[in-house]
Amino acid sequence: MSHADDQEGTRRDFLYYATAGAGAVTAGAAIWPMVNQMNPSADVLALSSIRVDVSAIEPGTQLTVKWLGKPVFIRRRTEEEIAAARDVDVAALPDPLADNANVRADADASDENRSLDESGEWLVMMGVCTHLGCVPLGDAGDFGGWFCPCHGSHYDTSGRIRRGPAPRNLPVPVAEFVDDTTIKLG
Ligand code: FES
Repeated sequence: MSHADDQEGTRRDFLYYATAGAGAVTAGAAIWPMVNQMNPSADVLALSSIRVDVSAIEPGTQLTVKWLGKPVFIRRRTEEEIAAARDVDVAALPDPLADNANVRADADASDENRSLDESGEWLVMMGVCTHLGCVPLGDAGDFGGWFCPCHGSHYDTSGRIRRGPAPRNLPVPVAEFVDDTTIKLG
């Protein structure tokens, strides 16, 4: 990857992050006074969930939002990305598990077990490298997915580790569509 590519990826990620900060994300600000009077577990529960408006995300781009202090990648994948993710021998993957909080813990790492919707258009995952916690770059790496420049981990278009020191696929957090254009995290 050239230096120019590297900068391009960084700038793109930043732009989407800035978009999110401008109002695409709604946290539970209005419920603060109420949860303060509730027990601690209800407090944590209420604040650990956010809704993200994904209507402005074009195919082939991603939004990075901050959730529970960590980046979350919300990517709307192209047909090519989906096809590449699904045309993979799961048995040959370094991490054979889905690592998806929405499916059974022993579910395999097939792309169908990682994408948010059946068609595979949407992929939501924590943007934290499973090696030592750097934030991987999008549209990068040898497998067309994400690349972690810290020590050279390559993730594919399903966020699965394919090469490098990272031991696990990028984890998929609890997430669901609550309407056509809103994804709820947590
Ligand atoms: Fe990503 Fe080491 S932190 S490769």
